[in-house]
Amino acid sequence: MSNKMWGGRFGESPDAIMEEINASVGFDKRFAPQDIRGSKAHARMLAKQGIIASADADQIVAGLEAIEGEIEAGSFEFSRALEDIHMNIEARLKENIGEPAGRLHTARSRNDQVATDFKLYMRDTVDHLDTQLRALQEALLAKADAHAETVMPGFTHLQTAQPVTFGHHCLAYVEMTARDRGRFADARKRLNESPLGSAALAGTSFLIDRQMTAEALGFDGPTRNSLDAVSDRDFVLETLSAAAIAAIHLSRLAEELVIWVTPGFNFVRLPDSLTTGSSIMPQKKNPDAAELVRAKTGRVIGGLTTLLVVMKGLPLAYSKDMQEDKEAAFDALDALSLCIAAMTAMVARLEVNEANMREAAAKGFSTATDLADWLVRALGLPFRDAHHVTGTLVAKAEAKGCDLDGLTLAEMQEVEPRITDEVYGVLGIDNSVKSRTSFGGTAPDNVRAMAAYWQKALIQETKS
Ligand code: ARG
Repeated sequence: MSNKMWGGRFGESPDAIMEEINASVGFDKRFAPQDIRGSKAHARMLAKQGIIASADADQIVAGLEAIEGEIEAGSFEFSRALEDIHMNIEARLKENIGEPAGRLHTARSRNDQVATDFKLYMRDTVDHLDTQLRALQEALLAKADAHAETVMPGFTHLQTAQPVTFGHHCLAYVEMTARDRGRFADARKRLNESPLGSAALAGTSFLIDRQMTAEALGFDGPTRNSLDAVSDRDFVLETLSAAAIAAIHLSRLAEELVIWVTPGFNFVRLPDSLTTGSSIMPQKKNPDAAELVRAKTGRVIGGLTTLLVVMKGLPLAYSKDMQEDKEAAFDALDALSLCIAAMTAMVARLEVNEANMREAAAKGFSTATDLADWLVRALGLPFRDAHHVTGTLVAKAEAKGCDLDGLTLAEMQEVEPRITDEVYGVLGIDNSVKSRTSFGGTAPDNVRAMAAYWQKALIQETKS
């Protein structure tokens, strides 16, 4: 039997391999709630415009609601022969209410239908991701506040650079997450236009009211060009781009956690419940969740890459290539959501090993810059000269096998006679972080103020 939805001009039914490559219902069944929502809005609009009878629209709406119930209850039978979620639902509607079901597809095509479903789905997904990212920010802020004074080594090139506070490090990720949320919000703004009523590609000869369906579905208004509306997947690409950037942020933090929990560092402890053991080495406690956050970033970037490649050669308007947009996007966004949840749990429950962080912060001549700055301030040396003097002192300390404050005043004066014992005041790591009071710097007071700034911003966000 040829396809009952489009088989009129076909003499034979699709080959098994055609059915297999063509079917999308296996994955686009996720769109069921959005598809039903869109169809209800469309049916009501058709009735209001006098395109179909009100009684038919009532039956269609009631029939769609019944199908929604079947899908929720798990009793709906999805059929691959019916290709996709759109035709599965319509075919079931036909079984349930008969002839009026065939009127639903007036002035509509699966091309505008799928674009509408996907936008509705993306909107919900972006909202959910935003809620999750906010929770991550809250977890980071709690740690930032609690560790405004906890000194750790700050790194460049993963080499000890200058002491920073752990709170400051947490706040760096609050900033990144804020930008991620901004990117998602921006993508959401642009995606919120309704393609419904663009039909296959050219619009329709029926006197439809696109404003009405747009409003019913919570869109800001209808799209302005039917060709663009059915062939546009920018809203997926933008969301996936934002997702990829968010994922690499999580991956960087995950990488830091992996480093921080190694016995060599031992900066933080993850709870047993968020780690795993080894089946052979009894002593092991592995940061698998962090490693998987790091690895799943590949899926997110991969999803974006997939869709960029799918779209890059498509002439206007719709091509079936575009059916390949969904699995990549679902996989990427599911992975991101899981990663945010896992990272939030790890941040919230990690314990900081303050003593080890401190000890590491004092090593590696981390206050060398403070010494150079002191030479500038106290002795009036040009910074370049101060840098050179400090470098010589570092070499001296290294040869002696001590830190900078392990050099005697006499040893320092061999390099620069004007040095006084006041210098020891800047060689300590606490003084070092306390002195970094420039806006955005790591000083504990700054960290507390910045944590308060973000806490207030999040509260304000809830109110507005
Ligand atoms: N399942 C299709 C997709 O995901 C729906 C649109 C089909 N349109 C068409 N002209 N065959 O893209």
